[in-house]
Amino acid sequence: MLKNKKIALYVTGGIAVYKVVDLMRSFIKNGAQVRVAMTDSATKFVTPMTFQILSRHEVYVDTFSENNPAHVSHVDLSDWADISIVAPATANTIGKMAYGLADNFVTSALLATASPIFVVPAMNTDMFENPATQENIQTLKNRGVYVVDPDTGFLAEGYEGKGRYPENERILEELENFIMTKDMTLPLRGYKILISAGGTKERIDPVRYITNDSSGKMGHAIAEAAYQYGAEVTLVTTSALNASKAIERVQVDSAKAMFEAIDERFDDLDILIMAAAVSDYGVAHPATSKMKKEDYSKLLNIELKENPDILKTMGQKKKNQFLVGFAAETDHLEEYAVKKLAEKNLDLIVANEVGKEDTGFDSDDNQVVIFTKEHQRLEVQKTKKTEIARRLLDKIIEELDHHS
Ligand code: CTP
Repeated sequence: MLKNKKIALYVTGGIAVYKVVDLMRSFIKNGAQVRVAMTDSATKFVTPMTFQILSRHEVYVDTFSENNPAHVSHVDLSDWADISIVAPATANTIGKMAYGLADNFVTSALLATASPIFVVPAMNTDMFENPATQENIQTLKNRGVYVVDPDTGFLAEGYEGKGRYPENERILEELENFIMTKDMTLPLRGYKILISAGGTKERIDPVRYITNDSSGKMGHAIAEAAYQYGAEVTLVTTSALNASKAIERVQVDSAKAMFEAIDERFDDLDILIMAAAVSDYGVAHPATSKMKKEDYSKLLNIELKENPDILKTMGQKKKNQFLVGFAAETDHLEEYAVKKLAEKNLDLIVANEVGKEDTGFDSDDNQVVIFTKEHQRLEVQKTKKTEIARRLLDKIIEELDHHS
């Protein structure tokens, strides 16, 4: 997300300046270009030389030391940046930003900045909680500036309180989310997309269920890729795998629960991708307490009932939604896939061969053939599921472009 991003890092004077050195290093490690500007007081904590060596660029401190007559550095820096980050941000600088003051390089450049601004306050609790600071923060937020909530913990003053500079890991996570929400050029920006993932579980009794080998890896990979492409993502999953916080996660177990979660959201969706392995049959009368060995006649004769076909039902309901199915087959892959595409009124189907060891269920890799409604055929050779997810979304985007 930070790759090739131009980051203007504004460092103001607080004890947390030394932690920002590491933050800057992670920006660079993630492929960003960084230019640093410091207030005079920030230079009392860490010298500009440290930032200069690590960013491999001159550090701006004083507004009036203009070395090149052809440029005005603070305006150049604000024009150059894709994103501006103030870390740590003191109460003083936050106040100046709120009031539009420009009395040093940092505040002048920030006042001239049109790109998104991300602020990491760090200060003494009383300063942070002072109504003046709180109002200034609110003013910035109202203008679309992102302000990270400081941590509560042990402060440099020797006592506990809110105002602590947060872990760089959290800052990076929030920064990536912020960049995503600001990047209007992402291909799925504005699209609402729901992805189902994992094998459904059909309860027999409170401790037993019928399920299948699906791990949810493919569905989760598609959800992550869709989120990276700027979509608003809902993931309806039976799997315990992780998903980014910005993805709406709906945890389900049975086909019926999955059906309900999808059905109630369907009207609002632009794209539905059914990567889940949905059990075609559920248990007709699940027991409410654990079955005992003596109940063998019941266990040996579990009565099944047909589950709703989620995708088929949505295919019947669909208006403008783009519908994607998966066809997991052990044989006659293409023939069955194309048949399912037509029967379920889909726009696209991803056919994959299961029952092999190194692709399909639970593997990190997959090999698929994608068919469109017009019987276009796209083969994706064995590769990581994360890559398959991107290739699938690229194909969907291409199809959406044709249809619009
Ligand atoms: N699917 C669904 N609801 C079901 C069964 C399947 O939404 N009750 C979806 C799956 O998520 C997948 C597609 O339909 O995207 C194809 O699933 P698959 O099980 O391969 O097809 P079936 O229609 O169940 O046919 P069969 O099991 O006979 O191959």
